[in-house]
Amino acid sequence: MRFLSARDPNEIVKFEAGDQCMLIDPKDRKYLVQLFPGSQFHFHRGFVPHDEIIGLDSGSTVESSAGAKLTALHPRLADFVLKMKRGAQVVYPKDMGHIIIWGDIAPGQTVVEAGTGSGALTCALGRIIGQSGHLVSVERREDHAAHAAKTIERFFGAIPQWIELRIGEVVDAVEEVRPDRVVLDLPEPFAVVPAVAAAMQPGGVLTTYVPTVPQLQLIQDALDEAGTFADVTHLEVMQRTWNVSGRSVRPDHRMIGHTGFLTFARKLAGAP
Ligand SMILES: C[S@@+](CC[C@H](N)C(=O)[O-])C[C@H]1O[C@@H](n2cnc3c(N)ncnc32)[C@H](O)[C@@H]1O
Repeated sequence: MRFLSARDPNEIVKFEAGDQCMLIDPKDRKYLVQLFPGSQFHFHRGFVPHDEIIGLDSGSTVESSAGAKLTALHPRLADFVLKMKRGAQVVYPKDMGHIIIWGDIAPGQTVVEAGTGSGALTCALGRIIGQSGHLVSVERREDHAAHAAKTIERFFGAIPQWIELRIGEVVDAVEEVRPDRVVLDLPEPFAVVPAVAAAMQPGGVLTTYVPTVPQLQLIQDALDEAGTFADVTHLEVMQRTWNVSGRSVRPDHRMIGHTGFLTFARKLAGAP
């Protein structure tokens, strides 16, 4: 299995058949391709046979049939998420870092996540908890679950055995698994709060991600009503990239304005 994140960082990483490859053109446009022997990558400046990339080191330069130079890199998770095919709306990379750090996701934990959606956050959580952990990712829609499974397989090379994809209701998984951490990216996380209050391990962290203010209010109401959460934080993440080119040093004109509000809450000891 090609598990990109588990590679020895000292190893010189060469492209192999089946790998994801990000090609960057002279205008900094990025393209995500999966490498297959005999296939070709086509764009407005000609084409590049995949066989010319397979075997190269990550970070190599290749030339298209029309003479354009492209940089070939293994995509970071953030690149992969921004370029992958989406079904449901994904968690953006800018928010993933906060989910992992403030949601306190760590190797070896048992984590329940829902909904699997497009599988973007599943890749991030699965990579962090690693093979000593157990991620149960739950999705109620079969079409979304099937799409996510393909995405996760593309990212890891195969679905890691520590990532369990379930079709169903997240409440059932929380009650059965009694996880260390719960991460909810679905429209009604407040409906899941009573199950998390009853079944998540003491001291565990519940993370929720919602796009609107009324949803945020309903989450706080549900946490108050459960009476077994403390240290609650609500936040949003703003990220502004900059253009640094000669004397033009300024923020970029465009940014991702709004994605969602994050809530983190600690589970107290004792039954609710
Ligand atoms: C916004 S998407 C999740 C996107 C995902 N976090 C990602 O990064 O790709 C929300 C998903 O939650 C699913 N969903 C909604 N309520 C659910 C529930 N109670 N149990 C399981 N899945 C649910 C929806 O079908 C939808 O696919």
